[in-house]
Amino acid sequence: MSLNQQITEYIKTLYPNQIPVLLHCPEFLGNEKKYLAECIDTKYVSYIGRFVAGMEDKIKEITGTKYAVALVNGTSALHMLLLAIGINPGDEVITQSLSFVATSAAIVHAQAAPVFVDVEQNTLGMSPESLADFLEEYAEVKNRECFNKKTGKQIKAVIPMHTFGHPVRIDKIQTICDKYSLLLIEDSAESLGSFYNGKHTGTFGRAGILSFNGNKLVTTGGGGMVITDDEAVANRIRYLSTTAKRPHRWEFYHDEVGYNLRMPSLNAAVGLAQLEYFDRILESKRETALMYQQFFDKLDIKFITEPDNAKSNYWLNAILLDDRSQRDEFLEYSNDNGVQTRPAWTLLHTLPPYQHCQHTQMPNAEYIADRLVNIPSSVRVS
Ligand SMILES: Cc1ncc(COP(=O)(O)O)c(C=O)c1O
Repeated sequence: MSLNQQITEYIKTLYPNQIPVLLHCPEFLGNEKKYLAECIDTKYVSYIGRFVAGMEDKIKEITGTKYAVALVNGTSALHMLLLAIGINPGDEVITQSLSFVATSAAIVHAQAAPVFVDVEQNTLGMSPESLADFLEEYAEVKNRECFNKKTGKQIKAVIPMHTFGHPVRIDKIQTICDKYSLLLIEDSAESLGSFYNGKHTGTFGRAGILSFNGNKLVTTGGGGMVITDDEAVANRIRYLSTTAKRPHRWEFYHDEVGYNLRMPSLNAAVGLAQLEYFDRILESKRETALMYQQFFDKLDIKFITEPDNAKSNYWLNAILLDDRSQRDEFLEYSNDNGVQTRPAWTLLHTLPPYQHCQHTQMPNAEYIADRLVNIPSSVRVS
């Protein structure tokens, strides 16, 4: 049996009921149908009702934050968060080139400019060294504001992303942000249930965001959330995302141009039902990752595991092959033979909308992009 065949056949044994085996197939194992019926019976289908608030409470409990605001998706959550922390048109925001496109799109939605730095090979997340080197060369701090010597623009914030659920070295990144008076916010869209030094991802900086897209550990179909301890940020996002309407029993008075982005109750009903058995979901993910690790160790193939000091939710499993041609051969074989696999995202700084953005050298991101393959990671129902 060829190596490609061995891997493909092994993956099929993990998901015997799926043909083809998908990267992520949502499973609904609890009160999802019951809660959806309750929405319809009670007529609470928009964001008022017990489900949106219930989901926010459950997420606060899991992440340990004081506030959580549910929105229509993770991209909007990041957009609203950037506005709420005071990102203005023309500001610059530093993020990593290896990420899903929503990270940089939200920066542009807020009319700011992304700047891209490299990632680490170990965590797959933002490299503290690449960030520090960039700031060392280009940043100038005046009156606790950080300016880019090349563009003259203010650099306001840094957004690391916890890739595939594996926590970045957020403590190091936080220290660098403090040194340069930069706001830290976390794209924790993929890392619900992941911890660094015992603290939940998304809770280190001013705020973090989560996604509940159909491919995540917990899904609402489409959905997102901002998590924060900052009451003013939470209130501002609630206000901006409900049309900037001043609360009143009957007057419609809007003192700014707002957005209509709160999560509907129908979506939250599904999410709350899933959160009720979140421990089971996490357990299944870790068990699958362990099985993959043992299998790939025997083949001498690098399987991405949780970094030091971190507990990962193993949202999306990944292996590193020898080079791009081995990667492409495996992608072709597995996708032709009933197992969905895919490469890492195309690096953001190479995409047409972002090619003009400032970026560092990307040796690690390029190394990973050439070799990484994501493999099926759905919750296994046994
Ligand atoms: C890293 C990252 N950021 C942001 C998002 C955006 O979330 P959504 O799809 O809910 O808009 C996603 C995923 O979907 C993501 O993977």
